[in-house]
Amino acid sequence: MASRKSNIVLVGFMGTGKSAVGRELQRMTGLRLVDVDAEVERAEGMSISNIFETRGEAAFRDLEAREIRRISEGRDQIISTGGGAVLRDDNMEVFSRSGVVVCLTASAETVLERTRHNTHRPLLQVDDPMEQIRNLMNERLPYYEKADAKVSTDGKSPYEIAQEVLEAVAWKR
Ligand code: S3P
Repeated sequence: MASRKSNIVLVGFMGTGKSAVGRELQRMTGLRLVDVDAEVERAEGMSISNIFETRGEAAFRDLEAREIRRISEGRDQIISTGGGAVLRDDNMEVFSRSGVVVCLTASAETVLERTRHNTHRPLLQVDDPMEQIRNLMNERLPYYEKADAKVSTDGKSPYEIAQEVLEAVAWKR
């Protein structure tokens, strides 16, 4: 019988490499890659930054939850999520029913290095992004802990990380 948990769900803080690793996993497995943020942007015809600016974070979280429910009905996909998708218990329940949830981790220093030249993350457009990263990481730690497996990404290539993700998934399925 085919496993019900046919999706691979990547969660983790901003800048932990979910998109790059998702693309690598797609290349390695041939599974379809679905990016929750991209689906929200497509559905709304607006960038995430624009949604935050004009409608606020709470409205974004509702749109994100709606797309997560829709996407998770599909099978055999790699689902790359936004860093805050773990904050709603409903989202995590939907993810765990549909697949194996793997959390990518990185140090605050690595996250800053990987995100410092990007302007598309509204939560990091602040005077002191390092402080913001540390605060948000601490706040979110208990949520990321709910994943089925964790893979550290510091100093590793997307290929190496993707290999570790596949090993973790094989054990957890
Ligand atoms: C967010 C992370 C972003 C995006 C939005 C909010 C967060 O996705 O969903 O800016 O709350 O951590 P990435 O993790 O892909 O940057």
